Amino acid sequence: METDFLVIGSGIAGLAFAVESAAYGKVTIITKKGRSEANTNYAQGGIAAAIDSNDSIEYHIKDTLNTGAGLCNEKAVRIMVTEAPSIIKRLCELGVDFTKAKNGKLDLGMEGGHSMRRIVHTKDATGAQIENSLLHNTSSEGITLLEDWIAIDLILKDGKCIGVWALDEKNNKIFSIFSKIILIATGGAGSVYLHTTNPSIATGDGISMGYRAGATIANMEFVQFHPTTFYGKKIGERALLLSEAIRGEGGILKTSKGNTFMEKYDARKELACRDIVARAIHFELKNTDTDYVLLDVTHLGEKFVNKFPNIYNSCLSLGLDPLKEPIPVVPAAHYLCGGILTDLDGKTNIPNLYVAGESACTGVHGANRLASNSLLESIVFGFRAAKSAIGEIKKIHLENSTSTSIKNNLNSSICDNNIISEYLSDIRFIMWEKVGIVRNTKDLEDALSKISQYKIEIDALYEKHAISYALVELRNVVNTALLITKCAIMRKESRGLHYVLDYLAKDDILYNRDTVISNNS
Ligand code: FAD
Ligand code: SIN
Repeated sequence: METDFLVIGSGIAGLAFAVESAAYGKVTIITKKGRSEANTNYAQGGIAAAIDSNDSIEYHIKDTLNTGAGLCNEKAVRIMVTEAPSIIKRLCELGVDFTKAKNGKLDLGMEGGHSMRRIVHTKDATGAQIENSLLHNTSSEGITLLEDWIAIDLILKDGKCIGVWALDEKNNKIFSIFSKIILIATGGAGSVYLHTTNPSIATGDGISMGYRAGATIANMEFVQFHPTTFYGKKIGERALLLSEAIRGEGGILKTSKGNTFMEKYDARKELACRDIVARAIHFELKNTDTDYVLLDVTHLGEKFVNKFPNIYNSCLSLGLDPLKEPIPVVPAAHYLCGGILTDLDGKTNIPNLYVAGESACTGVHGANRLASNSLLESIVFGFRAAKSAIGEIKKIHLENSTSTSIKNNLNSSICDNNIISEYLSDIRFIMWEKVGIVRNTKDLEDALSKISQYKIEIDALYEKHAISYALVELRNVVNTALLITKCAIMRKESRGLHYVLDYLAKDDILYNRDTVISNNS
């Protein structure tokens, strides 16, 4: 199969790239499940943009840099934040129906770490609204979108990326897809952890593929844990997120005995940055030996139902009426700040290979992401990558290299699903227990040794058995877990999301820099 622009992943980053490049060549998107099954589809709070008359680009930049704890690339932040207002306009043109206030202007929500109300949203289902609008545009542009196709590995020739190996799951066939430009937009890696807000697709596939191919990876230790997810019951494999915007509207955190506690940790209380709130909850649970804290919205009454209708209904479906009793909440893995290192146009160190969205490390988040900056980053840098690729494509000759091959052993035996599930559960448990919100060197070393051993065993399983969807994901999960753990060990300080009991201070002399790792180093 051949194409001009190959997009791996159909979340906001991949779709933005596809829509932007459609007029300049044949665009093919492959996505490993149904077209809308992506983190994007579950995004609640919204997308940050300084559009209020009291707000300014400089305030948004300042909040982003403060949250990033000294590690943001200021140039990248400035680009993202400056482009935000026009991105909101463009999304409206693409059909996104954002919620309006009574005065007819866009309603602006509030989230942790922001000094102003600046979260543009569609009630509490912003991601689904954006995903559907972009998908609609993708189909009206005549873009080919292949569902249930999972990318396995990048194809390289003479150091350049020329395509990808992919499994067409429905037909159980492996194909090479050759392309002039390849975009990785495979999202994050929440599923590497036992408890996560992410759907099961988030297994770090693109980052692992990139790593195996020699792409430079950065800042994998900065895993963001969302402070508030429903305790004890899941929706499928996902923890139900209780949007930070709920605290922006007055939701209060309390211990299970009903006492407030955030005032002990930060003057901004419930609206401190996410790392601070998640850690505060972690310590409260540990100190009081309880399993959850409470998010109290009972005083918000109908305002809660109007602002958060989907969350309200999800709580009801889990057997709790948030207007009658506080919601039991715990933190869960939510977002990966690190990824494949890119320049300001989504380019990687491998020619013709671009990355955008949660798989990328553009530098805008540094050591901690400001709430609602992720949809923004994905679309800003998705569009920028497309613009750069459009400029490059005229110079690129399509390679159709018959000399490349993959371990194509679909006729070998299928790996037992129980074995795969056992490895997955073990890795997720280890990551949760030992590479979580609060870390220590002994646990990190222990995790490194166990996960390294699992990697050897899983790579052997992969070699021996037929390539399958589950095996491809397992191979990526173990690799991503290892990258997170290795980066966490390399950073011997506490900064932003990386909090290590043995190194509680921030060390600006030795560690005011990205943690960079590659297969070649
Ligand atoms: P995704 O949207 O995750 O898309 C990845 C795509 O790649 C999917 O289509 C997936 O199936 C596909 N894929 C993965 N691996 C492969 C493979 N091997 N082969 C083929 N296809 C593959 N951010 C905000 O800014 N504001 C919010 O309000 C917000 N709320 C959130 C709420 C929840 C519950 C979650 C989970 C996240 C939230 N985030 C929010 C974060 C934000 O949604 C994501 O960071 C963003 O959507 C990432 O977009 P993406 O395009 O990079 O990846
Ligand atoms: C939320 O709604 O709390 C999620 C926002 C984000 O992850 O940016």
